[in-house]
Amino acid sequence: MTTENPFGTITPIISDAVSCGDSCCGDDMASEITHAQLDSITAVVKHYYGNLASSAAELSADASRVKATDKFYSEDQRDALPDEVTGASAGCGNPVGIADSQRGETVLDLGSGGGIDCFLAAREVGNNGYVIGIDMTPRMIELAQKNAATLQTENVVFKLGHIESIPQPDNTVDLVLSNCVIALSEHKDRVFYEIFRILKPGGRFVISDMVTSEALPQDVQKSAAEWVECVGGAAVLSEYLELVEESGFTDIDVVKEDRSRPDAEDWQSTLINLTLRAYKPAE
Ligand SMILES: C[S@@+](CC[C@H](N)C(=O)[O-])C[C@H]1O[C@@H](n2cnc3c(N)ncnc32)[C@H](O)[C@@H]1O
Repeated sequence: MTTENPFGTITPIISDAVSCGDSCCGDDMASEITHAQLDSITAVVKHYYGNLASSAAELSADASRVKATDKFYSEDQRDALPDEVTGASAGCGNPVGIADSQRGETVLDLGSGGGIDCFLAAREVGNNGYVIGIDMTPRMIELAQKNAATLQTENVVFKLGHIESIPQPDNTVDLVLSNCVIALSEHKDRVFYEIFRILKPGGRFVISDMVTSEALPQDVQKSAAEWVECVGGAAVLSEYLELVEESGFTDIDVVKEDRSRPDAEDWQSTLINLTLRAYKPAE
């Protein structure tokens, strides 16, 4: 069944994978979206990831699913985490795995979901360090807080907020992480402005995100179902890099650039799992 909506068409989502760029939650979740909720992309994204938060344990237990953690994380990283953390994982890379966070650093994760990258960063920064997870979906924040209690972490805090207006003072963060979230924002320029604002001079970001090698077809860009999968809003890589540079970052380094769907022959072959590192200049 398809449903008309202001973005185009909600296509039922049928997939056995759980990671950004694949369907995480089955067609029930897409078909539950009502016309009233489709007033904004934000509402659709919140609805979708709220449902993912509620089914995290169930998704983790489903052996037939290819999980984001299986695709992108090491065995050591997976073993450190309970099912409700790995089950909610919906990234398209492993930014914390290459960010080289140091003891005592302050790390902030944009779109922290169930908290996977926050908990892994917390191990690295130690008790003198501090990790902040930001997410706009209340059910994701609740899940992440519950996961923090299970893991008994004392150096991680989760805050409800938007990545376009980060609830964090200027010049206070050593490292910004994000895993498959900026593709969900309609205001990517604003997100990079905010990352620059909160980083200390000399601070860095390491971000995994979905981008494309060329512009997506209009119907894909207008599809709410593709937006929630981090696909509809994926920017063209060259334009994404321009945004980063225009925001003031230097030493911009494409660390990884893998085809997201290597076997695809249509527009899906243009999707890229990107991991990018860049620095705010030291004063
Ligand atoms: C694809 S999931 C990735 C979650 C997590 N980074 C991971 O790797 O599992 C996207 C997350 O970003 C959050 N999100 C999407 N757009 C956001 C925005 N504009 N501001 C804050 N959070 C957002 C969603 O609620 C969801 O939890």
